[in-house]
Amino acid sequence: MLKLSRALLCAATLFTAGLAQAADPIVIKFAHVVAENTPKGQGALLFKKLAEERLPGKVKVEVYPNSSLFGDGKEMEALLLGDVQMLAPSLAKFEHYTKQVQIYDLPFLFNDLAAVDRFQAAQGKQLLTSMQDKNILGLAYWHNGLKQLSANKALHEPKDARGLKFRVQASSVLEEQFKAIRANPRKMSFAEVYQGLQTGTVNGTENTWSNYESQKVNEVQKYFTESNHGLIDYMVITNAKFWNGLAPDVRSTLEQIMAEVTVEVNKQAEALNQSAKQKIVDAKTSEIIELTPEQRALWREAMRPVWQKFEGEIGADLIKAADASNQ
Ligand code: LMR
Repeated sequence: MLKLSRALLCAATLFTAGLAQAADPIVIKFAHVVAENTPKGQGALLFKKLAEERLPGKVKVEVYPNSSLFGDGKEMEALLLGDVQMLAPSLAKFEHYTKQVQIYDLPFLFNDLAAVDRFQAAQGKQLLTSMQDKNILGLAYWHNGLKQLSANKALHEPKDARGLKFRVQASSVLEEQFKAIRANPRKMSFAEVYQGLQTGTVNGTENTWSNYESQKVNEVQKYFTESNHGLIDYMVITNAKFWNGLAPDVRSTLEQIMAEVTVEVNKQAEALNQSAKQKIVDAKTSEIIELTPEQRALWREAMRPVWQKFEGEIGADLIKAADASNQ
């Protein structure tokens, strides 16, 4: 009898150990559209490293850069279907889910990333949870940086852009921004930008130095104008049901890691953009145009009417708060 129960106990122990060993780690697929040597690319890799170090065997993070799993247009749908668990779309790509996030695309709204930080730590914070009814949860904001214009023509003043075709992200605000200077915006996914510029489907675009350099846009654009006229920032998002279904200890460790990664990404973003700019200078492919204060004022004046157009959708108070974050 004793022998039999010992044998049973032994078998039960082995069975339980086997189960524990066989328990698969939670797989978090993190897809994005940019290269790895960009602020977002680096952030995704750091998140993977820390998550796998601190939750060994429990969590596995698979990072898919360069639209290799899902590109613009498909990635949100994939998140909602559970085919991918984390994304960090640029804030320009949320308008179908929330109108308020459009605030980040208003031209000449933020003077620098410090102002963006102040806004995101205050009124901007609530936007992270503004899409929960659609099962999308924002975990953090990551910076890329301020946008510069590029074209195959020298752009010193808004009138130089008249009639040119500019690639824009899927954003109504950005469409209006180019219409305001009498240029023609064309929505195009990020993965298509190089070819679009090369074949002349579009004549110019706007982006950060790190996105330009890592996509080799300088090979197909003769001119860059250092306009700092807008922002490329990201919201790291997850599927709310997936996130809330995680074991509380796993979720809180991942939240802690996300907070640490966010500090790191936001600290490094500006330096990454400056070194990308230097690489473009060194490549001698293109001319970089610096604007005089008077020229920059002309761009600002031409683009600012866009604010009024979106005031109703975004909210005048939110715009006022963002503008006040410059002080
Ligand atoms: C773009 O589509 O131009 C960028 O927002 C891509 C990105 O994620 O930085």
